[in-house]
Amino acid sequence: MKVLGIETSCDETGVAVYDSADGIVAEALYSQIEIHERFGGVVPELASRDHAARLAPMIGNVVAEAGITLRDLDAVAYTAGPGLIGALMVGGSLAASLGYALGIPVIPVHHMEAHLLAAMLEPGPPAFPFLALLVSGGHTQLVAVSGLGDYELLGATLDDAAGEAFDKVARLLELPYPGGPALAKLAESGDPGAYALPRPLLNKGLELSFSGLKTAVLRLLERLGSAARDGGQGAQIRADIAASFQAAVVETLVNKCGLAMRSTGLERLVIAGGVGANRDLRRTLKERGQRDGYAVHYPRPALCTDNGAMIAYAGWCRRATAGTGLPRIEARPRWPLEALEPITSGAS
Ligand SMILES: Nc1ncnc2c1ncn2[C@@H]1O[C@H](COP(=O)(O)OP(=O)(O)OP(=O)(O)O)[C@@H](O)[C@H]1O
Ligand SMILES: [Mg+2]
Repeated sequence: MKVLGIETSCDETGVAVYDSADGIVAEALYSQIEIHERFGGVVPELASRDHAARLAPMIGNVVAEAGITLRDLDAVAYTAGPGLIGALMVGGSLAASLGYALGIPVIPVHHMEAHLLAAMLEPGPPAFPFLALLVSGGHTQLVAVSGLGDYELLGATLDDAAGEAFDKVARLLELPYPGGPALAKLAESGDPGAYALPRPLLNKGLELSFSGLKTAVLRLLERLGSAARDGGQGAQIRADIAASFQAAVVETLVNKCGLAMRSTGLERLVIAGGVGANRDLRRTLKERGQRDGYAVHYPRPALCTDNGAMIAYAGWCRRATAGTGLPRIEARPRWPLEALEPITSGAS
């Protein structure tokens, strides 16, 4: 079975073809960074317009790269939410039109479920059940995954998502957008022990909080004043702040994962979402897993951030849920993961 996947929930246009016999056979990703960077964040209207301009030609190219034609597709999957409403509508409209014209099922996909399943595309995929750490630009959640669609939210951030904190602190440090990767790069030349930054709610249950940490960085920069801005010394101070901030986020996430693994007795931990691309987080979690006796799975960095491959794969897993009759365009800007229903047949 060949499934076309379409991702347009935010500022990346992602397209891929998943073949149930061969895996991902073709994919393309277009990032809108250049469009949004001068605004310091995603401008929803510009995001929608760019998805609308790029999506159809990208689909044509990806299908050709897969060595097939549109007529060879068996289903079309698209991100139905959560995300920016206009951006979701672009992907949903094109997916429904294609499904209608080709007479094939159209499968609405939950973006966070797709992130969570991305690790399945790697060799040696994790078996159910497992704990998932979803760490992205908009979400920070610990989810007990009993099976496909069977999710229990164990804890989540009370305020900012981890990726959002990376992006906001990167802005305070005047790093280019998107901030997460830039901050992680700067942190490589800094001392993670230079500044004692808070680890909010560190040992208190499975809730998380990152807004106090961001404010602590703001106060630190105010206190340091021009010293943090000027010359070579300022550059080193900023690198030290980046490293200290990253260490605080990583320690918090790793501790929460450890708590959740102990309290659930689960044996596998799966990392998903853009912050999962962070090298320090990946290394530290792997070490902690080895020490405490659980396996840690994470997809390669390109499958952590938004992409079409995870949508195509999640669509295949959910093929049994495709509606019949004329396709409806679903776009759900807010859509809790726990609202999904378990699927008894699907992935293999
Ligand atoms: N190496 C990295 N270190 C830290 N953060 C990173 C890294 N790479 C990406 N990020 C962060 O990951 C986020 C983007 O991830 P992703 O594309 O999964 O999020 P999103 O799609 O915007 O949000 P959501 O999936 O919650 O809707 C951004 O906040 C970005 O700064
Ligand atoms: Mg995402």
